[in-house]
Amino acid sequence: MESYVIRGGMSLKGEVEITGAKNAALAILAASTMTDQTVIIENMPDEADTNALIGAMNDLGVFTHRASRHTVRVNAAKERNIPVDNEGIKKIRASYYLIGALLGKYKRAKVVLPGGCAIGLRPIDQHMKGFAALGASCRIEHGFIIAEAKDLHGAHIYFDVVSVGATINIMMAATLASGQTIIENAAKEPHVVDLANFLNSMGARIKGAGTDVIRITGVEKLHGTEYAIIPDQIEAGTMMMASAVTRGDITVKGVIPKHLDSISAKLKEMGCFIQEYDDAVRVFCSGRVRSTHVKTLPYPGFPTDMQPQITVALGLSTGVSIVTESIFENRFKYVDELTSMGANIKVEGSTAIISGVEKYTGAHITAPDLRAGAALVLAGLVAEGITVVDNIHFIERGYEDFYMKLRSLGAIIEKAEDEPQIEKFRIRYA
Ligand code: UD1
Repeated sequence: MESYVIRGGMSLKGEVEITGAKNAALAILAASTMTDQTVIIENMPDEADTNALIGAMNDLGVFTHRASRHTVRVNAAKERNIPVDNEGIKKIRASYYLIGALLGKYKRAKVVLPGGCAIGLRPIDQHMKGFAALGASCRIEHGFIIAEAKDLHGAHIYFDVVSVGATINIMMAATLASGQTIIENAAKEPHVVDLANFLNSMGARIKGAGTDVIRITGVEKLHGTEYAIIPDQIEAGTMMMASAVTRGDITVKGVIPKHLDSISAKLKEMGCFIQEYDDAVRVFCSGRVRSTHVKTLPYPGFPTDMQPQITVALGLSTGVSIVTESIFENRFKYVDELTSMGANIKVEGSTAIISGVEKYTGAHITAPDLRAGAALVLAGLVAEGITVVDNIHFIERGYEDFYMKLRSLGAIIEKAEDEPQIEKFRIRYA
């Protein structure tokens, strides 16, 4: 089992290039199979989740070729519409995007139930409701989601909750349905817009993505395209938070600053200096951050995927902060680990009450999921002494070259494969 070993105490400084957005990439990869023509996707992150989806696509007979590390060529002309089920795909959430893609293209899809981070119940009722409105019959059987339709037709769909996944899934299926679909209470996340732009570049007719009403006029066929994925809002936010945690000076490059507004706003409230450029944001923090209150919300609110990282930063603030998680019901599991590093946090239901402490101390901890794992690494970067973070496969699901990027900013962090390697690091940096 691989771990990160970290010697805390370095103030991170410098510039870091942000990778393509994982969550946009997953939707776009699935959608790229909806045409038999060649699709070229640029700015594709090289991460475990995207690679797992590519592996599942290959199992269906989809040809993929990484022309360079971040450019993938996809051709689905020889795709077979067989059940989607392999070891890699079971671990990721976005496996269910293949339902929307296959249902749109073949009017039938059978996909193993999704995995992903254990941060709550994560039901898929809104996806099923949307597919049913488009004329598909949907059922869950022997661990598979099966959706089939004689004909898919446009429909007026009102989501009961704002769901990124359901919005994306219905957008894909409706693109190849007959007539007009209107999605109300749609998610507005940047990757929803990115997928709409991608589908439109393939000949789809989608309007309103980025607002809460999306209108889709079905088309018969999609064609090949060349498209570059947007930068990763959450990777950028994590690096910005690394600056706040380590009292550093980090510039995230190759980003869309607008996507980072809710994070920049919180960092300003916390007393950090923020400078925005056309495609970069600098975060400079000296001294302890100030406490503030945070509530996670759908975009443009503060992202739930940044909740653990800001909690780690606020754990070192000068006052008492309240962080409310309103998207997922079980997203504070990492707090026990952080407490073992000296944090003073009390969780009551969906709220964390954080009394700032002066310092964290190194400990041997475990990443419970992707974003919380990254957040615990940030805690290790500032902790006194040495921190070991186990289960880093969670982190590598969604951060490309995470520890190398942190090293380029001055962090002392290494990957260790076993106990002797951890011991060597301890001796070197004791
Ligand atoms: C996506 C992101 C994830 C992010 C989340 C919220 C991907 C691959 N993952 O996850 O990183 O944390 O958005 O921004 O893009 N819900 C229902 N019924 C449904 C669907 C969702 O009740 O059918 C609920 C969920 O339980 C949750 C809320 O809606 O409470 C939001 O979930 P959703 O936006 O669907 O998250 P994901 O698409 O799974």
